Amino acid sequence: MSFRTTGSTGSTTASSVGYVEDVSPGRGALPPRAWYASSDARSLSLNGDWSFRLSPTADAEDDSFAAEGYDAGGWARVAVPGHWVLQGDGAFGAPIYTNHLYPFPVDPPRVPSENPTGDHLRYFDLPGDWSSDGGAVIDGGAVLRFDGVESCARVWLNGTDIGEFKGSRLPHEFAVGHLLKPAGNVLAVRVHQWSAGSYLEDQDQWWMPGIFRDVTLLHRPAGSALDFFVHASYDHVGGIGTLRVDSDVDGRVLVPALDIDVATGEAVTVPVEPWTAETPKLYDGELVTEGERVPLRIGFRTVALEDGLLKVNGKAILFKGVNRHEWHPVKGRSLDLETMREDVLLMKRHNLNAVRTSHYPPHPAFLDLCDEYGLWVIDECDLETHGFTEQNWRDNPVDDDRWTPALLDRAARMVERDKNHPSVVIWSLGNEAGTGRGLTAMAEWIHGRDDSRLVHYEGDWDCRDTDVYSRMYADHAETERIGKRLDGGTHKRRQLPYILCEYGHAMGNGPGGIADYQRIFEAHERIQGGFIWEWIDHGVTHPELGYAYGGDFGEELHDSNFVCDGLVFPDRTPSPGLIEFKKVIEPVRIDGDGSAGTVRVRNAFDFTDLSSLAFEWAYQVDGKTIEAGALSVPALLPGESAEVKLPQPPAGGPAGEALWTVRALLAEDTAWGRKDHQVAWAQLPVVERLLPTVTPGGGPTASERLIYLGPASFDVRTGALKTIGGIDVTGPRLDVWRATTDNDEGAWNGNTCYSRLWRELGLHRVQHRLDGVELGADALTVRTRVAPAAREVGLRTTYRWTADDSRLKLTVTVDPEGDWTVPLPRLGIRFGLSSADAVTWYGGGPGEGYPDTKSASMVSRYHSTVDELQTPYVRPQENGVRPDVRWAELGGLRIDGDPEFGFAARRWTTEQLDAAAHLTDLQAGDTVWVNLDHGQMGIGSQSCGPGPLPQYHLLAGPTEFSFVFSEIG
Ligand code: GAL
Repeated sequence: MSFRTTGSTGSTTASSVGYVEDVSPGRGALPPRAWYASSDARSLSLNGDWSFRLSPTADAEDDSFAAEGYDAGGWARVAVPGHWVLQGDGAFGAPIYTNHLYPFPVDPPRVPSENPTGDHLRYFDLPGDWSSDGGAVIDGGAVLRFDGVESCARVWLNGTDIGEFKGSRLPHEFAVGHLLKPAGNVLAVRVHQWSAGSYLEDQDQWWMPGIFRDVTLLHRPAGSALDFFVHASYDHVGGIGTLRVDSDVDGRVLVPALDIDVATGEAVTVPVEPWTAETPKLYDGELVTEGERVPLRIGFRTVALEDGLLKVNGKAILFKGVNRHEWHPVKGRSLDLETMREDVLLMKRHNLNAVRTSHYPPHPAFLDLCDEYGLWVIDECDLETHGFTEQNWRDNPVDDDRWTPALLDRAARMVERDKNHPSVVIWSLGNEAGTGRGLTAMAEWIHGRDDSRLVHYEGDWDCRDTDVYSRMYADHAETERIGKRLDGGTHKRRQLPYILCEYGHAMGNGPGGIADYQRIFEAHERIQGGFIWEWIDHGVTHPELGYAYGGDFGEELHDSNFVCDGLVFPDRTPSPGLIEFKKVIEPVRIDGDGSAGTVRVRNAFDFTDLSSLAFEWAYQVDGKTIEAGALSVPALLPGESAEVKLPQPPAGGPAGEALWTVRALLAEDTAWGRKDHQVAWAQLPVVERLLPTVTPGGGPTASERLIYLGPASFDVRTGALKTIGGIDVTGPRLDVWRATTDNDEGAWNGNTCYSRLWRELGLHRVQHRLDGVELGADALTVRTRVAPAAREVGLRTTYRWTADDSRLKLTVTVDPEGDWTVPLPRLGIRFGLSSADAVTWYGGGPGEGYPDTKSASMVSRYHSTVDELQTPYVRPQENGVRPDVRWAELGGLRIDGDPEFGFAARRWTTEQLDAAAHLTDLQAGDTVWVNLDHGQMGIGSQSCGPGPLPQYHLLAGPTEFSFVFSEIG
């Protein structure tokens, strides 16, 4: 590679914006190369406040603003990096969210005349030390680097047009040394929201124009490094690594810790510790050319396709991954280093080992963090043409040779930029772009340039161009068939490993069923894991709505809250989905027989033994720890397991439900977690719980208005409970409704849309008909029929109340009538309390859990408040149920369940929750509404993926369940 001066120096006229709709990747940029920060060559960040002018069309203004001496005094200011639509309090337009629809007419490569265009201006002086004599211009050259601009930019430096480019999430560099002055340089950048490139960037996310990644001026002194490729392989048989650094500029490669000092291009083999995501050993080195020292962080590892498996250092690995879009609720896709680090730390702390950079190369610093902390990376190219599906993929750019140079440019910019990251084990051609010759050309180019990694593309089901069979959202049954190699497919596909590059759609409450996936993954070696869709909700911080989603900015076309489907909320608070995923993928499997006092521990890491973990046991009775201690577990190798004896249960402790809790904790501080950070755990039952009983102490008596029974009073006419001791109660009565979740609303691939079925049946508006209030010898019986208008189905529901002096027992019997062809959303009771705040319960927690999302639910005694019980899904929906609750206390009441129940309490009704579009719609009322669920329908993942598996369906059938109420002390 050599620097060349670029472009014409002609001026732009208002009509010379043809480049915007030109399929070519651009003009004037340098060839792509590795991204690195020099040890000694200077750089100048041009981030900061820039002058800004927004025009409605690409050609509204001529290019006179780029000339030296232009007076931009009247212009606005924007922060670079940033998206202008997220700045200026709405004065600069607004973001648009579409999943796959192009928000403009599909007529490639034409784009709308209305093409918001942001002119950016910035003045800068060169630091004095850029020239050896402190004088005139600078020694050597200089490069101006843009790390990300959406979607097309034209650049002038000191009045000279230096080129234009497309490829939003890829770097572009220009040689500018000959144009620089010691002081008063003027950099002008014209950014167009829409361009031919937009057709290649139809990812499911906000459309947000701007210079959203860094702008940097890099000094390139004479003899400085240009591009280089670090080849660092590992031979796991011999425990040796081979290093060869190919460099455009000759020099030496130094790795002091390995005593390496070799010429570039020369291979050297030495004993090393390998790099893996579990053991991210990096060796610091340097590439020294005549004019520059470049730091290297070298990880030795070998990625290979062997025996139909993806192996690293000779071992098949299992991806426990997530798809990560770049997102910040205020700054959009402009992430600072700390936010990127937070993502990586959160991933590591939740047992994830892999990330797919959906659907574009991330900020390069993110990959440095993946190298450093240890994550396997599928690096994906900035390419998606999903909107062409609307026209049966006609005119799809990836199958049209005119676009191939642009596709190859994108592939090269990704590979060249990121090729020196040990964390990157797979290159992905892009996402949802159909099929075509352009993709084949990209794959061929990548294979030719880098044969040390595999190539991925999900859309290629025949695996013509790829080295991995990859799918998204295949259901459990199909995944299992593929695991058993019963899926057929092309000869080539049958030889390849399988991954689910997307599964477990984390939209709203969910994803459900991921533990069931994990069991299948672990049972079949061909399945090498998957990547949850996706990492973070892309909610935009909004003054009135809390977080805005699609449609909240008045978009003409939008896909609503489909953009909020992450494992973390927009502010990066882990959602219950992440807690569940952490448990499902824990790298140590603990089970055993609690009564026999034996624990079985299996090491589920791919590379490391268990010596970094300390194990603990605790013996708990009714949720309280009676005794705890250390458990000695051998440093098992990957795949090994051992049985370990627990101590004798403590003698003379309290009676009650007893269980062992065994935990695996970090034994020492690590780069990503503190000592005692919990990595894995399990509970083993020892003594079962005693169910609550009430021996009736007498029958109900009636006055003119009330019926009295034990501590309670009821309405004489309706039989409705009114008080328990001194506590006013509204209801309780049968409840079958839940505020439908995003997964209930989904109908992926023609699946049943439960929300539609339920609403058509009328389950959100059942009527409660009173059939009788009977005062018996020791019980009050209230007979009802619960049914929706217009339908013949119904639930005969009987409430039978008995009591002793202080405790009141309710037994609910439900007998379905008619032909129930749909599962129920929920079955339980709901009642209101006039005041309640603090909540204590013994049961599952600390977070919510539903039938197919409760792997992470640990039985214990918990304290919280009504407000804290709510899970703040960006679009409000069913949430917050604590599963398997034995008893709960709130508002002065204690409730014991037979059997265990799902417990929720909120300051609004289910109907209000159901109607709310944003969290800010939920206003606390006077009553706290409490749900005690006997059951709920599973959650599933069919906002995009399969619904709840049959075993998690709540079918209507004869049912009985009880609660015992008492006033606390
Ligand atoms: C996939 C796609 C993702 C996202 C997801 C649904 O088809 O690759 O980008 O749209 O569905 O959230």
